[in-house]
Amino acid sequence: MKRIVLGVSAGIAAYKAALLLRLFKEAGHHVDVIPTTASLQFVGAATWEALSGNPVHTSVFEAVDTVNHVRLGQEADLVVIAPATADVLARAAAGMANDLLTGTLLATGAPVVMAPAMHTEMWEHPATVANVATLRSRGVHIIEPAVGRLTGKDSGAGRLPDPEEIFAAVRGYLEDEAPSRASGSGPLAGKIVAISAGGTREPLDPVRYLGNRSSGRQGIALAKAALAAGATVRFIAAHMDLPAPEGVELITASTARQLQGAVTEAARGADVLIMSAAVADFRPAQYVDAKIKKSDDHADPVITLVRNPDILAMLIAQRAAEGRSGDLPQLVVGFAAETGDAEAGVLEYGAAKLARKGCEMLVVNEVGENLTFGTDENTVTILFADGAQPVHASGSKDRVAATVIDAVAGALGDG
Ligand code: CTP
Repeated sequence: MKRIVLGVSAGIAAYKAALLLRLFKEAGHHVDVIPTTASLQFVGAATWEALSGNPVHTSVFEAVDTVNHVRLGQEADLVVIAPATADVLARAAAGMANDLLTGTLLATGAPVVMAPAMHTEMWEHPATVANVATLRSRGVHIIEPAVGRLTGKDSGAGRLPDPEEIFAAVRGYLEDEAPSRASGSGPLAGKIVAISAGGTREPLDPVRYLGNRSSGRQGIALAKAALAAGATVRFIAAHMDLPAPEGVELITASTARQLQGAVTEAARGADVLIMSAAVADFRPAQYVDAKIKKSDDHADPVITLVRNPDILAMLIAQRAAEGRSGDLPQLVVGFAAETGDAEAGVLEYGAAKLARKGCEMLVVNEVGENLTFGTDENTVTILFADGAQPVHASGSKDRVAATVIDAVAGALGDG
C-alpha cells in the first residue's frame, strides 16, 4: 500500500478524477484528496470523502492541529494532480503556496505527476508552455493531454486522458520493487533506454485523423527485451493496438508534435534512444473545429498538408549543438520502413537514411500491405554508422527485438 495525494483543480474533467481515485483504492492504496476551492464547484468534498474514506480539506487553515500542509506532502509516496489547470501549473511553477494543494507540492519529496486539462489555446499559450518546461526541468512528470472533444463546441489538444491511462502512467511509481528500476543484472543493468512506439495521429476535425498502420508491437517487444536486459525503460507510446508492457515508465502522446516534446523529455539523461514510432511526416495545415460536412456544390474537398518536425533529425542536431555538456543519449537508434522501388532497393534507401538522419544505428525493415504492420513477424537489417558489419534478424518481433537490444548492448560496451 502506498500513500497517494490526489490533487484536483478546477476543470470540468474533475469528475474523471473520481474514477482515478477508485482505481487507486481498488489497487489497495491510501488516498488523500486535496481539491482546490474552485474545483469544489465541479465535484464537492462529500464525493471525495466518501470515495477516499478520508477527510478532505482545501485550505491550510483547516485541521491546523495536524499541520496538514506539510504532513500530507511529507508522508506521500506519490502526488498526482488530475486535472491540472493552467492556473495550478502556473502557481506550481512559481513555487506559490497559497492553498493546501500548492503548499503540499512544496513540502513533498515524493514524485509528482500532473495531468493538465484545458482548452487548446491555454495549453499552447507561451506562458503555459514555459510553466510546463519549468516543471519538467524540476522532475515533475507531465502527462501530455489527449486530443479530442473539449468543453463547449471546440476540440483539440487539452483533454484529460482517461483515468485508466493516467493510472497506467503512474503505475511504475506505486510498485514496491518497481521493475522499471534497473534489476541489477543483465547487459543493460543501470542503463536508461527511451523507446518510442506506435503510430501518431494527426487530427483533421473532431472525428477524423491521418494515421498509419503501426500497431506498436515491435516497440513493445523492444521494451520487453530492454527490461529483460536489466534496463530502466522510458516508453513513449503513440497509438498502439496493445497496452504498454508492465514495468516501463509510460508516457503517452498522440500527434507528432506531442511525441516530439515527450521524446525530447524522455531522452534527456537516457543512455539510449530507440525511435521505433511511426511518425506522420505531414499533418493537415488546418484543424477544423467542427466536423467537415459534405458541401452542397459537390466539390471534392482538398486537404493541404504541412511538414511535421523530424524528431530524430532534430534531436541529433540538438545533441550536436549541446556538445559534451548536453545530456541527450550518445546512442540513437532509428527505424526505417522502406518498400524499395524501381530506383533503389530497401538496403540502399536504408543506408542513405542512416547518413541523412545522423543516428548511430538504423533498423531497416521492408514494409508493404502484408508485411510487418500488425503481424507478429518481422525481417530487419541493422546498419551501423561506424561501418560495422550489418546484422540480419528475422522471425518473431520478440526475436528481432532481442537482436536489436543485443546490438545496443554491444554498441554501449564498445563506446
Ligand atoms: N522519424 C521521426 N520524425 C519524423 C519521421 C520519422 O523521428 N517526422 C523517425 C522514425 O521514428 C524512424 C526514422 O525517423 O526512426 C525513419 O522513419 P521513416 O518514416 O522511415 O523515414 P522518413 O524520415 O520519414 O523518410 P521517408 O519517409 O522519406 O522515407
